[in-house]
Amino acid sequence: MQTRNIGSRRPSPNSPSLSNRGAIGLISPIFPSTQQGLQQYFDHSGVLPDWADPARIERGHLLLGRYQPQMVTLLLCSSLPLCYGCADGAQVLYRSKRLTSGVYRRLMETFQFLVDVLDSGGLGPGGRGVRSAQKIRLLHATMRYHISRQDDWDPQWGLPINQEDLAGTLLSFSVIIPRGLTSLSVDLPAADRDAFFHIWRVIGHILGIDATLNPAEFDDGAALCDTILGRQQAPSTAGTALTKGVLDFIQEVLPGPAFAGVGPTLIRHLAGAAAADIVDVPPQTSPSSASSSGLPSTSATAPPATRSP
Ligand code: HEM
Repeated sequence: MQTRNIGSRRPSPNSPSLSNRGAIGLISPIFPSTQQGLQQYFDHSGVLPDWADPARIERGHLLLGRYQPQMVTLLLCSSLPLCYGCADGAQVLYRSKRLTSGVYRRLMETFQFLVDVLDSGGLGPGGRGVRSAQKIRLLHATMRYHISRQDDWDPQWGLPINQEDLAGTLLSFSVIIPRGLTSLSVDLPAADRDAFFHIWRVIGHILGIDATLNPAEFDDGAALCDTILGRQQAPSTAGTALTKGVLDFIQEVLPGPAFAGVGPTLIRHLAGAAAADIVDVPPQTSPSSASSSGLPSTSATAPPATRSP
């Protein structure tokens, strides 16, 4: 697929200015020749698209205060395991080593990103969400460059951090989190769901996702999410190792016998048994498992097609 060989699109050179001289001030003494390019990058990439809707963004921001614990749980126990089950994309994170060593820091940075994006003012002028997304787009470009040049990178996996994987990851936030809230018995009005989806669509734009893979409506995003997961979900050593990092993290933050088995139980409940099996999440063994506590059995996605590792 063509979208597996394309990275981020270039920010428009005609966009008006959005200054971010703080970050450039830090970098330019070290790499003076890159100052102009970086200035242009920060000027252009952080400009919100014409279609960004301040009313929906504001409405979406209000959801963080209401559902932050549920959102963080869903990110950890549904979005991430589903992403790690995408075998080709998982090779990138596995090679960056940050999710197999230094897991705690990486996950905290990812939570911080979620908060920066969703917090009030995060997408306003100089907002932390915009700045974080700009920095991550640069980080992704750096990782794409280095990982694609590693000797053991198999071009059949596509370009690292390609358009399809970027879109799939974005939708694992913008679609999987609202779906998960419903499965946690949160009665999320459609207008709130659409506002949340809209915020992530704006972030997708800043991260360089092509408009054709960054749909305007939730239902189209949900269909695209299921299509990408159906294409990409397959067992891999990388996906299993990355998910083990998440399970270890949960055990570290929730130690003790009272929480035994909570990680596998939550992932199986929120991501679904088929997705959990793909990344080797252990079976539910705790007596406080979802089924015995009366939680309905759910799946975050349409059933994934299985592929050889
Ligand atoms: C829209 C989708 C995405 C978002 C919002 C996102 C978000 C982030 C965030 C918040 C970080 C910083 C955390 C850290 O420092 O580790 C990061 C770093 C990174 N991301 Fe993404 N990401 C996305 C898609 C992807 C995809 C599809 C891949 C690869 C398949 C990827 C690979 C990486 C790598 C390799 C790093 C650097 C990790 C390191 O420091 O070693 N990201 N991303």
